[in-house]
Amino acid sequence: MRSTHCRSRSFTLPVLMLLFPWAAALGQTDFGDPLPGLTASELNRFQAGKAAFKEVEGTADGVGPVFNRDSCVACHDNQATGGGSAIFSTRIGTRINRQFDPLVRRGGPVIQTEGIVGREGYLYVGEVIPAEATIIARRRTPQTFGLGLVDAVPDMLLVGLAIKQALRTPEIAGRPNFVTDLRTGQWRVGRLGWKAAVPNLTNFSGDAYKEEMGITTPGWLPDEDGRLIDDENPPQGDTSLLEYNPVGNPNEGDIEDVVLFTDFMTFLAPPPRGVITVAVRQGEKLFASIGCADCHVPALYTGNHVSPALRFRRVAAYSDFLLHDMSALGDGIEQGQARGTEMRTAPLWGLRTQPSFLHDGRATTLREAILQHAGQGSSARIRFQRLKWWEQEQLLAFLNSL
Ligand code: HEC
Ligand code: HEC
Repeated sequence: MRSTHCRSRSFTLPVLMLLFPWAAALGQTDFGDPLPGLTASELNRFQAGKAAFKEVEGTADGVGPVFNRDSCVACHDNQATGGGSAIFSTRIGTRINRQFDPLVRRGGPVIQTEGIVGREGYLYVGEVIPAEATIIARRRTPQTFGLGLVDAVPDMLLVGLAIKQALRTPEIAGRPNFVTDLRTGQWRVGRLGWKAAVPNLTNFSGDAYKEEMGITTPGWLPDEDGRLIDDENPPQGDTSLLEYNPVGNPNEGDIEDVVLFTDFMTFLAPPPRGVITVAVRQGEKLFASIGCADCHVPALYTGNHVSPALRFRRVAAYSDFLLHDMSALGDGIEQGQARGTEMRTAPLWGLRTQPSFLHDGRATTLREAILQHAGQGSSARIRFQRLKWWEQEQLLAFLNSL
């Protein structure tokens, strides 16, 4: 049944495309394109959001006093605006009496390496990793393509996946990272960031605007460390230095920019698939049969979204967006409910465009990335190592088609 179905489709599609060449453009989008089927007003919001995502901000706009880059696109630009990059952000922490401490008083949890010129010509210097930091995690910049779809996956679907794993594959069972939405106060299933500690694009935009660019916005609730996105980051944790801060706090009068970033990423299409060969199809089967797909779930679905372009859509992110105990592959940082050894199953769409792999870019090839799977990822890794060499090549061909 299945193969007949595939054959008839691979035959009909090219014929249809010959007859109606414009039809090819209907399904497939390119990197950085908007989702197909947006309304005119949604397309406008996408374009305006993209402009904001690319806009270079200066000191007068509120950048600093310490920051990492002056635009979102400075880090998110591989393939197209919104992509990932080989740029890293650094998170720090330590353990005091077995409790994780994000070292807020020393400039944590995120290090900002650049400084601005403040009032009275005061020269802010970028932060350095403080001596107290015993845990230092480098985090690679992921792509944001398709994240509107991820944002639209209902919490209950992810909770359901965790229950299914606990019942059917307990040895790899993940768990949701329940976190507070800092705008609504609601308890949500986190899904963004390497630890799935952020529930949606709005929260991530506000957080990134502050932590990466030093621009604060009003109207947020305190996070688990009691910090507010409304408040400036004191350089190296020293609040007395905020005295020379040139622009009032919060920097933005409202969350307009945060809404623009959110609009852009909400309507950003997922990355297009690469060429699908016979080897790719074989590799996909192996990916499922050796257990990779237990965590890297090939398809999730969005719920009943206000926008038809995002309503009841398939989300081929190859992730369950749950936390898994990866043992030595963990980065030691605690965020939300995520412990040090726990990481979010990394989505694999767009993999073929990535310069390096894993949260700290420690792997430069896909094979290395697989071989680094520890903890709950061990048994799938061992099954990969036991495959025949040509089967390993097929699996890698599949990954290279994502
Ligand atoms: C200095 C580089 C840098 C800048 C500037 C930057 N980002 Fe990021 N971005 C990162 C890194 C690193 C991560 C991974 C963060 C983590 O999980 O610790 C990330 C993650 C994200 C994610 C989550 C991706 C996922 O797979 O879950 C979103 C959404 C995002 N950034 C949006 C933005 C927006 C919007 C801006 C501008 C306001 C921005 N970023 C500016 C480096 C950057
Ligand atoms: C127990 C769940 C689990 C299983 C099973 C699993 N993975 Fe992963 N995988 C993860 C997690 C978690 C990460 C993120 C690790 C990190 O943060 O560095 C990841 C990361 C990756 C990456 C790197 C992605 C990136 O963006 O850098 C690749 C490639 C990958 N996995 C492929 C595989 C393959 C192939 C298999 C089967 C042999 C597999 N995984 C099995 C959980 C799993």
